[in-house]
Amino acid sequence: MDKKHFYITTPIYYPSAKAHIGHGLTTVMADAMTRFKKMQGYETRFLTGMDEHGQKVEKAALAAGKTPQQHVDDMAEMWSSLWKKLMVENDDFIRTTEHRHTEAAQALFKKIYDKGDIYLSKYQGWYCVSCETFFTERQVGEAHLCPDCGKMVETVEEESYFFRMSKYQDRLLEYIEAHPDFIQPVSRRNEMINFIKGGLEDLSVSRTTFGWGIPVPINSKHVIYVWFDALINYISALGYGTTQDALYQKFWPADIHLMAKDIIRFHTVIWPIILMAADIPLPKQIFGHGWVLLDTGKMSKSKGNVVDPVVLIEKYGTAAVRYFLLRDIPSGQDGYYSEAALVQRINIDLANDYGNLVSRTVAMVEKYFGGAVPSCGALTPLEEELRAIAKTAAEEAACCMEKLDFPNALSAVFKLIGRANKYIDETAPWTLAKDPAEKERLGTVMYHLMESVRIATLLISPAMPDIPAKVWAQTGHQAAENCLWEHAAWGGTKAGQPVKKGESLFPRIEWKEEAETPAPQPVAVPAAEKEPAAKAEPAETQALIDYEDFAKLDLRVARVLSCEKVEKADKLLKLEVQVGEERRTIVAGVAKYYTPEQMVGRKIVIVANLKPAKLRGIESQGMLLAASGDDMLEVITLQSEVPAGGKVK
Ligand code: MSP
Repeated sequence: MDKKHFYITTPIYYPSAKAHIGHGLTTVMADAMTRFKKMQGYETRFLTGMDEHGQKVEKAALAAGKTPQQHVDDMAEMWSSLWKKLMVENDDFIRTTEHRHTEAAQALFKKIYDKGDIYLSKYQGWYCVSCETFFTERQVGEAHLCPDCGKMVETVEEESYFFRMSKYQDRLLEYIEAHPDFIQPVSRRNEMINFIKGGLEDLSVSRTTFGWGIPVPINSKHVIYVWFDALINYISALGYGTTQDALYQKFWPADIHLMAKDIIRFHTVIWPIILMAADIPLPKQIFGHGWVLLDTGKMSKSKGNVVDPVVLIEKYGTAAVRYFLLRDIPSGQDGYYSEAALVQRINIDLANDYGNLVSRTVAMVEKYFGGAVPSCGALTPLEEELRAIAKTAAEEAACCMEKLDFPNALSAVFKLIGRANKYIDETAPWTLAKDPAEKERLGTVMYHLMESVRIATLLISPAMPDIPAKVWAQTGHQAAENCLWEHAAWGGTKAGQPVKKGESLFPRIEWKEEAETPAPQPVAVPAAEKEPAAKAEPAETQALIDYEDFAKLDLRVARVLSCEKVEKADKLLKLEVQVGEERRTIVAGVAKYYTPEQMVGRKIVIVANLKPAKLRGIESQGMLLAASGDDMLEVITLQSEVPAGGKVK
């Protein structure tokens, strides 16, 4: 049977000297989506490339002392090597200076001209070279600044070919209204409907004052306007208009044109009208995701606040960088990047939750069953629940990924990982292992952990494609049997399968924030920092409180996920704890008595409704309970199966 097809594109990038993680987000999203569709049995095609013409490129080449062609050739190397480092597997890399593209762009220009929708006139107005966009007097205002990037615009007065966009305004609006999925997310759809309703003017689609572009086929004094040229890449790369158009026949119309919101207007107005004028079907969806922001604002080369993905990959690895981008930038909205947030994701999600689940599982199968996966025995409600959660994780993750909502897709998978970790605490395999009569039960537990690891690994593979092979090397699963979405069904682990402990998947990162100015003295201090109890008043003389006073305290069980010393504070440890579904940071004065390693994994008791207090600049969201005596202190630690989040009364 013929396979279902899926075609996704990213914007083609300008040959700027510096790629940043904002560019990385679009391309990693497109790559993860392609991998997901492949796992669902689609024949996929993923296109990215470079937008090599225009005044901006010509100027940059001149400044670098190169010809424009030399300049773009050098940059093409940089972009394609970046995508390799990010494990982006694009099927094609189109460059608009390639013959296959220039030919298609000229053919399309001519087709629309012959139809009468392109005509010669005179352009008088303003142009932003940085955005390669024309603006009206009203848009640039008295200061003559680009409304998009804020730079000075240039005045332009020249003969130009115009594209009769105004003619298509109503048809485009009708199309958008009849196809609710055409522009996504909905906020961008509404924005564009309003923009189009505001009225479309004919667009200047040729320039005469510089030469770095595709010559207009009917008048070589003109070059084609760079956006008109660039948008055509999505079909020129498929062989549109040539005798070798098998890819075009198979993959057009595209399923998704993916980009950030800043260029959605070009894609939802100019591009559909080009296609309408040329009688070509429209793409199925144009999706505008949000921006990656820094606390200094949107990342951009001109502001000089760019974060180089290559530096991050070298420091933290591709999987972690991809995971952060897909997990932390909410679908369709802007999201923030900081190195501290990236390290936190690595330490908590990847090292503590996922990595630990894998290593604990493999280590226990080695220890209790000599490295061969045991068979599964009778189930208890705990196993039924774990299986149900694994099923829901696969369903929810698929549903979110269909909508390019990677943060929620990953969160669905991490619910399974979190539940499997809790299952270890609940079943306490180390206790079962002490009793030979519990051998079968122990086997069932191990089998369920192996399956949880397998399914979670399969489901996160679109986000972190290099991880499954590393996991399978330890768990003994076969890659070929664990590469399709349907393989996430329960039961793929085989009894007798050999496991072998390997290196930790995600070693914890020691992270030091830049030196901070000392924080003001806290008002609320954790109990553990107070004077030892020996000096306290005898209990019988203390004022008694009512039960209502005690009931005001929300005491909860919390699991310590990670812990580190607070710099320049001998007594303080910073703990990341899990309380139910929630994560909190707690700063506690226990460093004299406990090392960070001794704290990780403990189930402690915290006061969960204490007003947050800043300790050494870190906000402590609660306080842990500890018993103290003369020069001694013991953090109250639970040994039982009470889950994190459970109430202490
Ligand atoms: N060459 C045009 C696109 C032509 S498509 C026919 C262009 N290129 S660009 O190099 O400026 O890259 C634009 C794309 O990079 C954005 O649409 C977006 O996909 C991505 N991003 C650039 N900065 C970004 C952020 N700070 N955050 C998220 N994505 C960003 O425009």
